[in-house]
Amino acid sequence: MTQALSEPVCLAFLENTTREAGKIAMQYFNNLDQIDVNKKSSRDLVTEADVIVEKYLKKALEEAYPQYGFWGEESGQTEYQKSRWIVDPIDGTHSFSKGQYFWSISVALEIDGELVAGCVFAPALDDLYLSVTGQGARKNGKKIQVSAEKNLADSMIATGFACLRSYLIENNLKRFCRIAEQTTGQRRYGSAAMDLCLVADGQVDAFWEQELNLYDVAAGALIAQEAGASVTDFSGKAGVFPKQILVTNGKILDQLLPLM
Ligand code: IPD
Ligand code: CA
Ligand code: CA
Repeated sequence: MTQALSEPVCLAFLENTTREAGKIAMQYFNNLDQIDVNKKSSRDLVTEADVIVEKYLKKALEEAYPQYGFWGEESGQTEYQKSRWIVDPIDGTHSFSKGQYFWSISVALEIDGELVAGCVFAPALDDLYLSVTGQGARKNGKKIQVSAEKNLADSMIATGFACLRSYLIENNLKRFCRIAEQTTGQRRYGSAAMDLCLVADGQVDAFWEQELNLYDVAAGALIAQEAGASVTDFSGKAGVFPKQILVTNGKILDQLLPLM
């Protein structure tokens, strides 16, 4: 069914469609012994589930909103990209392929370069994060906000390591050591989209990663921003920069920047 043009997106549609994609992913997750895990390159994994989930989302989103283009990790970009869906069908494929619970489906809507809506669903945890610009962020229907932590020394910080890290001169390991020495807790969950939502939900106080793509962070960055997070690059410049993304509760940003 084609949706009305007056609002950029119907949130109930966005939530339901992402939940449906989650059901499809769970069918594979519950039968991992029967699925093939392939390598796009030496450390970059893709499963049948990634491809099928993206196919489902592309069809459902395009049918409902033919006015928007589509950019998915697995199928690439359609011709029209001025306003578009940005989709990571499974963010955290490595965790997914091992039967771990921290992976998610990430769907964002961007219009004229501005993120306007985002949904991140972690089906194995049954946690759904949803946001639309200017209306705050919700987890499972309840408003969420970033943590109140003011001291870097007492903070818990998440990060990730790009799958191609061994080929990078700047591979995040030195930065990780610098930051780990100055903080109480460190986490590496394996899904950047989820990491951003955990900052939004106050479960961790900050997250950074380098060498990501827009489909990894588009939905999560909006959700974090709407929950009160600072979203910057490693120099503190505001904006969504997938190659250098730093998301904090805002209160520890100044203490973290010199360590980046
Ligand atoms: C990966 C996850 C992971 C991050 C990697 C990403 P994928 O995405 O977001 O947390 O550390 O850099 O590539 O490949 O599972 O969609
Ligand atoms: Ca990803
Ligand atoms: Ca992916």
